[in-house]
Amino acid sequence: MWQNLLNWIEYRIPMMRVANMHALQYPAPKNMNFWYVFGFLATIVLVNQIVTGIWLTMNFEPSAERAFASVEYIMRDVDYGWLLRYMHSTGASAFFIVVYMHMFRGMIYGSYQKPRELIWVFGMCIYLALMAEAFMGYVLPWGQMSYWGAQVIVSLFGAIPVIGPDLVVWIQGDYVISGATLNRFFALHVIALPLVIVILVFLHIVALHEVGSNNPDGIDVKKPKGSLSEDEKTKYTIHEYYTSKYDIVDDVVPFFPHIVLKDLVAFCFFLAGFSYVMFFNPEMGGYFLERPNFEIANPLKTPEHIFPVWYFTPFYAILKAVPDKLFGVIAMFAAIIMLFLLPWLDRSKVRSWRYRSGLHKWNLIVFAIVFIFLGYLGGTPQENWKITASQYATVMYFGFFVALFLYSKHEKTKPLPARVTK
Ligand code: HEM
Repeated sequence: MWQNLLNWIEYRIPMMRVANMHALQYPAPKNMNFWYVFGFLATIVLVNQIVTGIWLTMNFEPSAERAFASVEYIMRDVDYGWLLRYMHSTGASAFFIVVYMHMFRGMIYGSYQKPRELIWVFGMCIYLALMAEAFMGYVLPWGQMSYWGAQVIVSLFGAIPVIGPDLVVWIQGDYVISGATLNRFFALHVIALPLVIVILVFLHIVALHEVGSNNPDGIDVKKPKGSLSEDEKTKYTIHEYYTSKYDIVDDVVPFFPHIVLKDLVAFCFFLAGFSYVMFFNPEMGGYFLERPNFEIANPLKTPEHIFPVWYFTPFYAILKAVPDKLFGVIAMFAAIIMLFLLPWLDRSKVRSWRYRSGLHKWNLIVFAIVFIFLGYLGGTPQENWKITASQYATVMYFGFFVALFLYSKHEKTKPLPARVTK
């Protein structure tokens, strides 16, 4: 009976076929390593954010008068409200940790290179939407840092010539940050942006499964049908759908159970770290939930230091490094645009850093260090030396992309293996 029911459904909607193609039997390169778990973890965190977000919304009141008190109510009176809130706030930071690791993986293995440019571009769109989502979520508790953070970020748009001042009023829905701003940020945070993110993640995965996953060797595991000899073909196995489209070399394994098991191991470690933060250190010394945010928003009292949550701080440091406001805003947006352009800035024929030059490896490592250092500079109280340091670090940030563009075309690379390594 069960099988009959499944057949009945399958005849009308290709549920099992899609599950097989895109999950159970998806051919994953067998050399996928630790770096390949972050896409899965990002998906888990996305689900966590949506589910806990729905429950928080049930008890949150999006008005300037009630927002702060309703968060207190969630923390103290709602059953397990504190848990829901900490799952959501820890989830926001966890999201950025796994997404930054996921992006860096893409960079070291050249996963953005042809034919995966669109996967990367969709990924960058997710990253932008995620930043907007996190920013607006942070405004909702209507604490001091929510208010003044919004003030700083929204006023950046005022630096745009001609339309700037009107644009700020349009975004705020008022002449100042007010209840109207809170209300529209609530609508965007709860409905519009999650929808955009879910659609983008769907497109991200569709684009990935069209061309197939990259791997730590950065070489192709599947070849268009007809490109393999008869002798080779006897070695190549798996899956009805893919064999109808591709001849698959046996460097791939079905996603279930092989990759799922690896992902589950990673998930256990992730859950341990997540639980530690959530139960024992949910504010992480003020980096996740900043202390001034325990005071209700007060438009007449500017906090001593205003800085954004840690995941924005590298870009905030770039903004602050440039003395002129307009050029600071331009530099900050340019820093993000550079990441979008990565697939075209890197002109190397070899993807993975395993087979690329020492220069490239160092360029990537220095870039990661500079990014973290910028994060430190943007997330701690300003001092004179930090301005100078931010300026040097900003130059080095852009230097990464310029250098990559210049050396990648004629880079001396190592010979690629014929098949993926073990
Ligand atoms: C909500 C955020 C995101 C989710 C849920 C997500 C999900 C995934 C998943 C499940 C995979 C396949 C598994 C894996 O390779 O790890 C993947 C691959 C990939 N993602 Fe994401 N992703 C997200 C954000 C991003 C961002 C921000 C970027 C970069 C800008 C990005 C770039 C890539 C690339 C290049 C691949 C292919 C990697 C390869 O085959 O080597 N993703 N993503």
